[in-house]
Amino acid sequence: MIRNSAILLSLVAVMGLPHSASAVDAAQGGVLAKRWCAACHVVSADQASAGGQAAPFSTIGKMAGLDTARLALFLLLPHPKMPDMSLSRAEAADIAAYIHSQGR
Ligand code: HEC
Repeated sequence: MIRNSAILLSLVAVMGLPHSASAVDAAQGGVLAKRWCAACHVVSADQASAGGQAAPFSTIGKMAGLDTARLALFLLLPHPKMPDMSLSRAEAADIAAYIHSQGR
């Protein structure tokens, strides 16, 4: 399972990233969020509902003290109620930027 997602992630990294690897890209983060987070979180305004009790990204994006750097760090650490998605640093940064954009 972990191996498979690692392989999948490297495929995504090879095929899915036309942008330079270092630039933070909220739009790319939105694509990743819809793919990996939407089962449990409402990740965008046009998503009606999600499966779990996890907070919608519009709420998370407004949380005081949860700046982009903290969000990215959170996403890189295993979290008890969330699967370990083994995101790369660039992916975590993109998703964090996207979550932040949803909180505005
Ligand atoms: C299997 C369901 C599930 C998936 C998939 C999932 N989450 Fe979560 N997430 C949760 C739950 C449940 C919580 C609340 C955890 C808690 O209360 O301790 C949470 C909490 C969070 C928080 C912290 C919010 C807070 O209250 O401090 C962030 C940030 C977050 N998720 C981001 C993401 C991102 C980004 C993704 C996709 C890469 C993702 N989650 C995928 C279930 C999930």
